Amino acid sequence: MGIERIGILGAGRAGTALARVAAAEGLEVQIASSRTPNMMKYHLAQYATKARAVAAEDIAKDVAVVVLLVPQEELDDIVPQTLAGIILVDATNRWELEPLPDWFEEGLAAGLSSSAVIARRFPQCRVVKALNHISHWDLDAKKGSHRSAQRALGVASDDAPATEVVAQLVRTLGFDPVILTDLDAGRILEPAGPIFNEVLVASELRKLSTSHG
Ligand SMILES: NC(=O)c1ccc[n+]([C@@H]2O[C@H](COP(=O)([O-])OP(=O)(O)OC[C@H]3O[C@@H](n4cnc5c(N)ncnc54)[C@H](OP(=O)(O)O)[C@@H]3O)[C@@H](O)[C@H]2O)c1
Repeated sequence: MGIERIGILGAGRAGTALARVAAAEGLEVQIASSRTPNMMKYHLAQYATKARAVAAEDIAKDVAVVVLLVPQEELDDIVPQTLAGIILVDATNRWELEPLPDWFEEGLAAGLSSSAVIARRFPQCRVVKALNHISHWDLDAKKGSHRSAQRALGVASDDAPATEVVAQLVRTLGFDPVILTDLDAGRILEPAGPIFNEVLVASELRKLSTSHG
């Protein structure tokens, strides 16, 4: 169930690192930011030469999977309808106590995981939590180092086929996917959890997810 192209929403440190590694692994990449494609030209020439710039409202056109790499505090500006029908990989994190949109704060206060809040905000997407707990440095590390370590990355969703697609994407990027039980289990991947930014192999990640889940 491999995919040949992905969309990336957010062209900052994480978005361009993902674009580089995905393109290096043979995927077609389209990427969008808050700027127009024309305004992104020089930025991409420097940071993600093989990615094609598209407008944010077009990011879900022609792709089945979009990776969300926009800071959570900016998510108010994304019109949910523009992402309808796709698998949305939530790779975002809350950083410190940055102020979030009201709907986000309310969802968290109600006890939802950040990805569950995002799933509620984007109800026409099949949301999968993944790719949030690795830094842009490590994502973009030279192939040999991450391949030889077979670093594990968690994948969490309530949608089994979408989970499989994202697990395959993680494999294509050179990592070892560990499928967690459901979207809520993705909490373990968030910044306060024991997995965030840790270099773990699959057995270690699985153990932590069951002992802390
Ligand atoms: N940095 C990491 O190592 C890392 C790793 C994993 C996950 N993450 C998560 O990924 C998210 C982004 O982090 P980052 O470090 O890449 O941030 P960043 O360098 O500040 O980049 C943010 C990007 O989001 C874009 N953006 C802002 N509002 C937008 C909108 N309404 N529509 C489309 N694009 C919009 C910005 O557009 P402009 O370029 O036009 O300003 C920019 O390209 C955060 O939630 C972070 O926790 C980061």
